[in-house]
Amino acid sequence: MSTNRRQFIKAATAGAVAASLPSTGAAESHESEWRALEILILGGTGFIGPHMVREALRRGHGVTLFNRGRTNNTLFPDLETIIGDRADNLTGLEGKQWDVVIDNSGYMHHDVRASASLLAPNVEHYIFISSISAYDSMAEPMNEDSPLAQLEDESVTTFDWSIYGELKAASERIVAERMGEDRTTVLRPTYIVGPGDHTDRFTYWPVRVRQGGRMLCPGSPEHPIQVIDVRDLANFTIDVVERRITGVFNTATEAGSYNMRQMLDDSQAVSATSVEPVWVSDDFVREQQLMGALPIYHPITGEYGHASSASAERARAAGLHNRPVRETIRDLLAWWDTLPAERHENARFRMTLEREAELIAEWESLG
Ligand SMILES: NC(=O)c1ccc[n+]([C@@H]2O[C@H](COP(=O)([O-])OP(=O)(O)OC[C@H]3O[C@@H](n4cnc5c(N)ncnc54)[C@H](OP(=O)(O)O)[C@@H]3O)[C@@H](O)[C@H]2O)c1
Repeated sequence: MSTNRRQFIKAATAGAVAASLPSTGAAESHESEWRALEILILGGTGFIGPHMVREALRRGHGVTLFNRGRTNNTLFPDLETIIGDRADNLTGLEGKQWDVVIDNSGYMHHDVRASASLLAPNVEHYIFISSISAYDSMAEPMNEDSPLAQLEDESVTTFDWSIYGELKAASERIVAERMGEDRTTVLRPTYIVGPGDHTDRFTYWPVRVRQGGRMLCPGSPEHPIQVIDVRDLANFTIDVVERRITGVFNTATEAGSYNMRQMLDDSQAVSATSVEPVWVSDDFVREQQLMGALPIYHPITGEYGHASSASAERARAAGLHNRPVRETIRDLLAWWDTLPAERHENARFRMTLEREAELIAEWESLG
């Protein structure tokens, strides 16, 4: 790294103290001092990584990737890729320096401890991509100061989705310990959606709307939905890099700003189809054990009653811009249509129209 680069970072670091959160959420901008930065991305070839890579390159920064070389490994042939494994081989990262690391692929706290320990002397700024799952409870609305989930057994060595949030919370703490809070940013996204989303969760809804007809809809038209477009997350992450913003940020559309009715309206407008929604109660969804079949939907009471109520005010004050969800739906469907038929048939969430009609008949028979 050049002396000038170091000097710039020092100046930016001084400003970053003022930009540190959580006190006010106000972030100081250093855009007038803009210079190309060297960014290390742990991951980079999954869903969100490529959007971050492209945004960083578009703005003129240098990007190095670190991954095992298994996922989409022909995506960025012109970038330096350091091959390794977060679990047991960080050798390729030793003795190298970057301005900032974006950690997209941190799932196990032991792996995050290893990377944060090794990189702490060699990067100025560590951005950890966490999740709103890191919160202890979704039964109440969440802001960045809400209690975090506690990992009961710190010695656990095997990843399991049932402790995903606990592992994220532990990883956040470890990064802050190793780097210091003034060099750490934690982003907690809600459902990340848009082109390239391999989870098929939000995608289920606009794809279903496009089929038209009577449609099983859980809850009510006012049922909240909270997502973040992957490109808005990528833009904000690179803003955080450039402006050296530290602190903790939920990243989402604003709580209460979007609901099932708007999703149906937007999806119908984009695909020029119409559906006749048949609203079934939360209790019916529970009784029919449909929770796993209707993605991103949670009954508004109980354990996940406020899963779509994470405050994103702090991120918005720091510059997060959310595009209209209608635009996300348009681009998501355009991307979906590029996928092979076999991929559509094997979508992770897919209810046949026959099954849906059966459920609607069952609901209507209840009077
Ligand atoms: N999707 C959502 O809605 C959502 C919501 C909230 C938070 N998040 C967070 O967003 C982050 C990114 O998600 P994503 O779906 O884009 O990425 P991902 O698919 O989980 O990550 C894939 C990237 O990590 C690399 N990788 C995986 N295991 C590795 C290992 N052991 N060592 C080195 N590299 C490894 C992969 O390349 P190789 O396979 O080649 O190694 C690939 O580049 C995650 O931290 C997730 O918790 C996601």
